Amino acid sequence: MRSRKLSFSIFRYNPSDPDSQPRLQEFELDETPSMTLFTVLSRIREEDPSLQFDFVCRSAVCGSCGMLVNGKPRLACRTKTAELPRKTNLLPLPFFRLVGDLSVDTGTWFRELGKRVRSWVHTDKFFDRTALEERMFNSQARAIYELDRCIECGCCLGACATAQMRSDFLGAAGLARVARFCIDPRDQRSEREIFEVLGTDEGVFGCIGLLACQDFCPKNLPLETQISYLRRVLARGSLTKAPDVRESPTRSASL
Ligand code: FES
Repeated sequence: MRSRKLSFSIFRYNPSDPDSQPRLQEFELDETPSMTLFTVLSRIREEDPSLQFDFVCRSAVCGSCGMLVNGKPRLACRTKTAELPRKTNLLPLPFFRLVGDLSVDTGTWFRELGKRVRSWVHTDKFFDRTALEERMFNSQARAIYELDRCIECGCCLGACATAQMRSDFLGAAGLARVARFCIDPRDQRSEREIFEVLGTDEGVFGCIGLLACQDFCPKNLPLETQISYLRRVLARGSLTKAPDVRESPTRSASL
């Protein structure tokens, strides 16, 4: 079978160069078996070393290669060209500060997010490093692990209509981060403290429920479920961390 000639329209702009103008640049190359967008961009960069894009792991773990592929947020390293039409548009993720071309600064935003939502276990307990880990029910550990799978790629924010209108919106990634601590039995935050972080339009009430965050999360996190859960917590004003009562507690990771 003859390979396809692929055509890519790539956003080019260097905000730190006063002479640079935003534009789309066309590139063409022959498709090869199992080709990913990461391979495409690496090949193009061999010809044009000025092309900026980010990658580290090439296996959907580091979260650095998020971009808009034909208008939809995706990870370049996990997108096979076989899934794409012959002509593809590549744009940087919106919402984040543009570094250049397809590279955006998600790291600064996620570091700030950690401070805004106080992303650590809140407890008055003295930390004894020689003690055994605290006990936790399997269902609780599984629920926490599910949310800890977030790779902070920013695809949920790139897909979110609220985030495009409100630069201070916590987004699904931020809300899921808070939910992770709400279900953690070691975290002793009160409902009031959670309300202070989430109970505004920048928090859980800013979401207009279009569900694009969940549709485009490359890790298939249950983001909309977490937003509903947090709304229920705030509406009820009570935070229950009830485990599945059929289980016996097992050792969790220590604080
Ligand atoms: S390069 Fe790490 S997620 Fe794509």
